[in-house]
Formats: sequence, C-alpha cells, structure tokens
Amino acid sequence: MPETTNAAFRPIGPAALLSPVPAVLLSCRGEGEDSPANLITIAWAGTVCSEPPMVSVSIRPERYSHALIEKSGCFCLNLVSRKLCRAADFCGVRSGRDVDKFRSLGLHPWTPDGFDAPALEEAPAFLTCRVRRILPLGSHDLFLSEIENVYVKPDLLDEKGALHLERADLVSYAHGRYYGLTREALGFFGYSVARPDVLSRRLAKDGPHKKERRK
Ligand SMILES: Cc1cc2nc3c(=O)[nH]c(=O)nc-3n(C[C@H](O)[C@H](O)[C@H](O)COP(=O)(O)O)c2cc1C
Repeated sequence: MPETTNAAFRPIGPAALLSPVPAVLLSCRGEGEDSPANLITIAWAGTVCSEPPMVSVSIRPERYSHALIEKSGCFCLNLVSRKLCRAADFCGVRSGRDVDKFRSLGLHPWTPDGFDAPALEEAPAFLTCRVRRILPLGSHDLFLSEIENVYVKPDLLDEKGALHLERADLVSYAHGRYYGLTREALGFFGYSVARPDVLSRRLAKDGPHKKERRK
C-alpha cells in the first residue's frame, strides 16, 4: 500500500477533540437532606468499565458542583433527551452558586430510595453513581465512579422488559454543538460480520429507513 502524502491531513495541535461525546446532566446535592439540589452539564464523561460498571466524569475544581460531589461522594448522571437540550445548555453556562437551576428551569429533583443524590425527574433515564477515586489531571479532576443502578422511564421498556434506548431521543455533543440522534440505526453490534439471514432480519426490524414502531 503506498504511503499517503502529507497533504492528506493537516495537524491542528493537541486538543480534547474526541467526538461525538455525550452531553449529560449531572445532578448532585451538598451534605444534608435540606441542601439544595444542583445540575451541571458534563461533556467529559465516559464509560470506563463494564464489570463493575464504571463511568468517569471530569470536572474543573472551580465548579460549584465539584465541592458538592467531593463531600457527598455520589451523584446521578441523567441522560439528555431532545426536550432537555436547552436545559442542558443552561446548566452548562449558569452556576448553582448564583441560581437554583431546577427552579429556574421548572425541573424537579427525584431522589431514588436509599440514595443520597437527587436525579432529574424529567430525564428519560439516569445512572446512580458512587465516587471511588478522584484523580487530579490538570484543568479537570476525574471522578472515577461506580454505577450502582440504572433507572429508566417505563416507556423505554417493551412488554418483555427489553430496553429501547432509541425511544429516548438522546442528544450528543461535538465541537461546541448539540446534535439529535436520528432514529435511523446505521447498524447494530456485530453487523459487519453478521450472517446474511441475521443481517436482513435485523435490518428489516430496526435498520435504515424503517420508522420505529411505537405502541
Ligand atoms: C455542553 C457543555 C459541556 C460541559 N462539560 C463540562 C465538563 O465536562 N466538565 C466541567 O467541569 N464543566 C463542563 N461544562 C461547564 C459547566 O457545566 C458549567 O461551568 C456550569 O455552569 C457549572 O455549574 P456549577 O457551578 O453549578 O457546578 C460544560 C458546559 C457545557 C455547556
């Protein structure tokens, strides 16, 4: 294979350009049941382990939420639907130091039984997370956290209890812009090597150009 010429790419310098990333709404609270709930938008979030299920979120130490999570040791990661996109932007440009974001946006905290951090009632799904380690990296501290449970709205589950996350109308983020996910699946896990009969059956069910069937 001949080498590509230098003109094929231009280096633009190191940057955190991994894209797209999720834009999630992290909800947290200070110590004590009476302390107000807060929301912070996080794009530097990622799944880091399956067993045990773990996630990382990177937060600048100067954020109001940073101290809250450091104290409480837990938070909820709320997935962002198209309906919540504007709220996610607002929670990423206003601080809980100055404004009650739940109240300003008409949103509601919802605390799962036996957990110390509130979730966002309006979210299609959320993960309850317990901080295991805090790693200072530079501009951001990485909160390495274990996912204790996942809660989903009942309409994301079918009659057999299978999860249909495509119904959540989730949002992603790339280089300063929010994007909706289309319902048009481009493929499924392993489709590049699937047997032709499996491929055609699955593509007929949830593949391109097929509108999602809702009950
Ligand atoms: C789309 C988006 C993604 C963001 N991602 C992060 C992030 O990953 N880490 C972080 O520290 N701040 C991030 N921010 C900035 C915080 O959300 C913002 O500073 C927020 O106002 C902090 O809220 P707080 O002071 O109530 O904690 C992001 C902002 C936006 C709009």
